[in-house]
Amino acid sequence: MQNLEFPPYIRNERVKRWIAEAVALCKPDAVHFCDGSEEEYRALCDQLVASGTFIRLNPKLRPGSFLARTDPSDVARVEDRTFICSLNKEDAGPTNNWVNPKEMKATLLELFDGCMRGRTMYVVPFSMGPLGSPISYIGIEITDSAYVVVNMRIMTRMGKAVYDVLGEDGDFVPCMHSVGMPLAPGQKDVPWPCNPTKYIVHFPEERSIWSYGSGYGGNALLGKKALALRIASVIGRDEGWLAEHMLILGVQDPKGQKTYVAAAFPSACGKTNFAMLVPPKPFQEEGWKVTTVGDDIAWIKPGPDGRLYAINPEAGYFGVAPGTSYATNPNAMETIRANTIFTNVALTPEGDVWWEGMDGPPPARAIDWQGNEWTPDCGRKAAHPNGRFTAPAHQNPAIDPEWDNPKGVPIKAFIFGGRRATVVPLVYQSFNWSFGVYLGATMGSEMTAAAFGQIGEVRRDPFAMLPFIGYHMASYFNHWLDIGRRVVDPPRIFSVNWFRKDKDGNYLWPGYGENMRVLKWIVERANGRGYATESPLGYVPRYEDLDWRGLNFSKEQFQELMAIDRDLWLKEILSHEELFIKLYTRMPKEFLAMREILISNLWRSPQHWDVGGEGYST
Ligand code: OXD
Ligand code: MN
Repeated sequence: MQNLEFPPYIRNERVKRWIAEAVALCKPDAVHFCDGSEEEYRALCDQLVASGTFIRLNPKLRPGSFLARTDPSDVARVEDRTFICSLNKEDAGPTNNWVNPKEMKATLLELFDGCMRGRTMYVVPFSMGPLGSPISYIGIEITDSAYVVVNMRIMTRMGKAVYDVLGEDGDFVPCMHSVGMPLAPGQKDVPWPCNPTKYIVHFPEERSIWSYGSGYGGNALLGKKALALRIASVIGRDEGWLAEHMLILGVQDPKGQKTYVAAAFPSACGKTNFAMLVPPKPFQEEGWKVTTVGDDIAWIKPGPDGRLYAINPEAGYFGVAPGTSYATNPNAMETIRANTIFTNVALTPEGDVWWEGMDGPPPARAIDWQGNEWTPDCGRKAAHPNGRFTAPAHQNPAIDPEWDNPKGVPIKAFIFGGRRATVVPLVYQSFNWSFGVYLGATMGSEMTAAAFGQIGEVRRDPFAMLPFIGYHMASYFNHWLDIGRRVVDPPRIFSVNWFRKDKDGNYLWPGYGENMRVLKWIVERANGRGYATESPLGYVPRYEDLDWRGLNFSKEQFQELMAIDRDLWLKEILSHEELFIKLYTRMPKEFLAMREILISNLWRSPQHWDVGGEGYST
């Protein structure tokens, strides 16, 4: 490689030193400083088409859009290869993989030595959050993947203006990424280079990220899970704010009052759908509107008035494609009509994309996500279940006007949800902040559908952060408790479960747009309005407290959906013990007391606690 020459707009010596060190280590053939321009984006997409990584979709059907097919071994986040390398093992906690940082650095330095031979190194400056916002953070990703560059341009505020914000001595998170497949002279490249050896590594004290061997999504777009959650959660702990795996949405009532809520659900529980919810017709006609601030990540900080304000640090959606349709999420379908990168979905003969669950009949034939001929009766899926779209947030017709506001939006409620076939009612409000933190800490999702009347195989996924917390999970619970003590008028906390089933395995709740009925009650409660009654777990709506206009849903159906089965709940609470023991050394002591209160509430309730039924026995 010729001498490294920096563009004049990079004035930060630390940045220059770090890039020079990366070049000396990775030994690329060339270095490209990304400026984030439209021309650069187009040229890189053309190059990806030429190299076979991208297929240009039919510009009449899907303008400005592309399809990528990954290597079949590189299709998802690799949690078992994800590491939090804090100096002290105890600081990473028992839910994270840990290796001594010195040892890990030695391993990485060996892997990265010469890893970009035969390739171009891209230097990608990006801001998580609006450029220049006091809430935002700057990262610079060094990568040898043009696919990563174009996805980062959609998912973040990427480009040379970031260097102006950084100035001569601003701080940034260094993010090193390589697909780990150097090319020997004359060696032909493959459309999706990657390496069977994978490492996704975070150094929380150094606030740096190293990712090796994967080109896919959450492993490689380092602004997202790695910076905006794992590293940001550590920064938030130190600075007194929260980095959360949450969507943010706005609810506007017919009088024009706007209420913002943030909601955490584990991966693949419909966060993007909820963030883009379209209210049922009678609600729309009356003037109710739901708008999207973000669909995956929220940074939440106390504002000057002492209340909590949230920003979405991302600028795009990296959504799961299968199951997305005009029936389930019309706003997502409108968002991805153009200028979208699709990954691991099917290609139709007309040059458009298709996946399972899209509206209408399947195409008579297509090319599946692995590039093979596909027909509806071939017995294989056309799209990978984790097939994705990468689309700019501003294309969402329901984008909130404040989504880009550097001050963030005021949060009035937190919602925690999981996928539970039994046990957990449709909705309840925790008694107070601390009970809400207990609720978030013990939330879980069923790995498989549970047999009726039994607690299924539940994976506890506290705050939906299990794969994303950058430090000890129980210290994180304490941090949440602390935040509640410090802020003015803390948001109300709710549990929801859209996935409860009857004894024949049918969903009891229609979900999707109908979730607006629950959301309306939540918003009313959060604003100090809306009626509720006290259950053993928290406050719940009575049948008449939800707005049923336009839906035929009986009181009996509602009671089945809301029932609290005492014996199942006692078992559920006993099962929290497993988590408590795992995290014992740092578990908040308050949790023991709250657990006792929940148990005693349940003890004095009837076996089947019904809204509008017997209530407590005295
Ligand atoms: C995601 C995830 O991709 O949570 O957002 O896995
Ligand atoms: Mn996510």
